[in-house]
Amino acid sequence: MFPDIRPRRLRSTPAIRRLVAETSLEPRHLVLPMFVADGLDEPREIVSMPGVYQHTADSLRKAATEAVAAGVGGLMLFGVPRPEDKDARGSAASDPDGVLNRALRSLRSELGDSTVIMADTCLDEFTDHGHCGVLTGSGVVDNDATLERYAEMAVAQAEAGAHLLGPSGMMDGQIGFLRSALDEAGHTEVGQLAYSAKYASAFYGPFRDAVGSSLEGDRRTYQQDPANRRESMHEVDLDLAEGADMVMVKPAMSYLDVLREVADRSPVPVAAYQISGEYSMISAAAQKGWIDRDAAILESLVGIRRAGADIVLTYWAAEVAGRLS
Ligand code: PBG
Repeated sequence: MFPDIRPRRLRSTPAIRRLVAETSLEPRHLVLPMFVADGLDEPREIVSMPGVYQHTADSLRKAATEAVAAGVGGLMLFGVPRPEDKDARGSAASDPDGVLNRALRSLRSELGDSTVIMADTCLDEFTDHGHCGVLTGSGVVDNDATLERYAEMAVAQAEAGAHLLGPSGMMDGQIGFLRSALDEAGHTEVGQLAYSAKYASAFYGPFRDAVGSSLEGDRRTYQQDPANRRESMHEVDLDLAEGADMVMVKPAMSYLDVLREVADRSPVPVAAYQISGEYSMISAAAQKGWIDRDAAILESLVGIRRAGADIVLTYWAAEVAGRLS
């Protein structure tokens, strides 16, 4: 005879469910990605990401301050240059007066060390061809020439006040190369959140809108094939050996198995990025009245945490932080 085992006992009231919840979601776990655009008079809502804006310098400062007041753990900044400021090498990315570096300087002076200010260290927003690096004569992204550009960009971002850089271009050797460049420039305290396992995903679609990307084609020669799991462990191991301070899996929701495996092996904090398409899918279904928006958002974030993310980058960071606190 079996004893009468009833798991439902622990689900019977909100209080007991709260008592036994295994996974927590707190404002500090959430990082808000933000876009700052050059040449805007007022913030512009991104059509495919309702509720997310390309900010002016002023609206960025205001929104960032509000997000920090709501308790988010950090901010991740992306720059959107004017179309005429894009070129083949993404010069505006490393220009101290480029849109992203100006915004970093302004946020750091406004917010100091009260939050963690992160910057996307990648060229795709700044190149006229939209790739994450510089191209060879035959149009392939040139790994080692791109590292030189990333190093210039990284030093400019550190000088502008970023606490943590997010190299997201998937070039081989980027973490070690940037570590040396930062150290040589005296920025030993500036860390790297390595986009270690980053897949060539269809779910980045709305982001390309968000940054006015010029990309035609795809990123499959540098971002990973969605079919691969083991490869991510190799990428994580390499980034750790090169000095990554944290590692990331991206996107989140289609890669929760990868996230779990990275979390099980990583000796450093693990982040996951709930990307633009994941935001847009939930937003669109909610706008149609097909799902309960607020519940779906929380469930998606708890799921990403349960799969092993210490930190979740999400466009809902400020809203959810406000709801949780
Ligand atoms: C590269 C970068 C991308 C995203 C973050 N950093 C775009 C890409 O790799 O194509 C995507 C984020 C999102 O979709 O929300 N700079």
